[in-house]
Amino acid sequence: MAKAIINGKRSKGTIDPNIYGHFSEHLGRCIYNGIFVGENSDIPNVKGMRTDVVEALKKMGIPLLRWPGGCFADTYHWRDGIGPKENRKKIVNTNWGGVTEDNSFGTHEFMELCRQLGCEAYISGNVGSGTVQEFSDWIEYCNMGGQSPMAQERRKNGQDAPWNVKYWGIGNEAWGCGGNMEPEFYANLCRQYSTYLRNYDNDHKICKIASGANIADYHWTKVVMEKAGQFIDAVSLHFYTTPRTESWDDKGPATGFSRDEYYSTLSRTLYMEELIENHSRIIRQYQGERKVGLCVDEWGTWFDVEPGTNPGFLYQQNTMRDALVAAVNLNLFNNHCDTVVMANIAQVVNVLQSVILTEGGKMLLTPTYHVFEMYQGHQGAKQLESYVETALTGEGEHQVPNLHISSSVSDKGVLVTVANLSDTDSAKLDCALTGMGKMSRAEGRVLTGERGAFNDFGAEDRVKPVPLKAELTESGFKADLPACSVASFLLR
Ligand code: AHR
Repeated sequence: MAKAIINGKRSKGTIDPNIYGHFSEHLGRCIYNGIFVGENSDIPNVKGMRTDVVEALKKMGIPLLRWPGGCFADTYHWRDGIGPKENRKKIVNTNWGGVTEDNSFGTHEFMELCRQLGCEAYISGNVGSGTVQEFSDWIEYCNMGGQSPMAQERRKNGQDAPWNVKYWGIGNEAWGCGGNMEPEFYANLCRQYSTYLRNYDNDHKICKIASGANIADYHWTKVVMEKAGQFIDAVSLHFYTTPRTESWDDKGPATGFSRDEYYSTLSRTLYMEELIENHSRIIRQYQGERKVGLCVDEWGTWFDVEPGTNPGFLYQQNTMRDALVAAVNLNLFNNHCDTVVMANIAQVVNVLQSVILTEGGKMLLTPTYHVFEMYQGHQGAKQLESYVETALTGEGEHQVPNLHISSSVSDKGVLVTVANLSDTDSAKLDCALTGMGKMSRAEGRVLTGERGAFNDFGAEDRVKPVPLKAELTESGFKADLPACSVASFLLR
């Protein structure tokens, strides 16, 4: 029996809903086909946005969407994507497969998508190949309510009211595809850009997010914080989980992987905790009066592309292994909600660890989707400190704790989410809730399957959540967690 304790007397604060954020780049079939099919498509759509995808994302509870990249952001000139579609420039997407980008999805379309989803917009500006003026104009175009050249142009293009976009990224991966900069150089640019990224409405202040470190590049975070910390509200972090780390050209397959690769993936993803703790420590050390948060604005699994698909499109399947990666990371973000203010899994549809895959007019929900849906109640809830007794499980050098937990409380009750990482052994859980009185109802749900189980076109419901028995006890509840599973319990 594994004992767990949810401590109602200790909390790190509110779980920012943006921790459950997503990312959409002009990459492969993410925007085009995956989200946007155009108004003339046979696929049911509203103003060009796929109705099936929009409805599914709403049901999952999408709070925030990042756009237009990624690497694409630092080649994107926003004026190419506004005005009459027939006049929009056709450009080459030099980062992703060299395909033609016709700019039919631009700022107005992205804001319409966010409107339909009911989510916040997070726009990454072009620092790598753009100018300060161009970036500053984009914010004026989106956020200026009164009279100004940009506001007039927006009105001319059919949008009267400002969108008040809050979240703005000052470049992306400035250390790599965003300009191959050194941290000192980027920190200075960041100060310069930040100076001209203005607020146009004091009730809708913008949030400036600096391009942050790759994985464990603590020097990057230190320099950016030291030199530009007073000019930003958050700094980002990118960390992708790959089963094999020797060569980027051989990351391992998304399906049909070995047991060893299952455990190497889980062990690698747990490294996120060390990254959060170390980067957060540096942020705290160098921040001044202005509190700076950590945005993990790209995370998730990155495997070899599906055989026969365009290598530049980063299309991969999604299994129970991905579900466990999602559960572990979301538990970690919840448990570090005092510094992690945003996280964006990469990417929302058809690219890397997606919650949705499409094929023509067909759509399926991946195991990762179901984890986000099951964890939805954590958004905006008060995190509670939780502890679970674990044993080590795994293969060879890749040993991981068998159980992983987080919990929160809101007006809906206490939500406890637990992953069982063992692919062979179920676990009996005896969970005590302290400092919250006796509970009168417990509802459990579980997502489980073989470690390589996935949903496919024609077999869309192989992996989906089902009810799980949770027995109330004097102090909390008891439940049996199947091997390779993610469970959620709502207690009232
Ligand atoms: O998500 C795919 C790519 O990964 C993004 O464009 C880039 O920022 C990162 O390297």
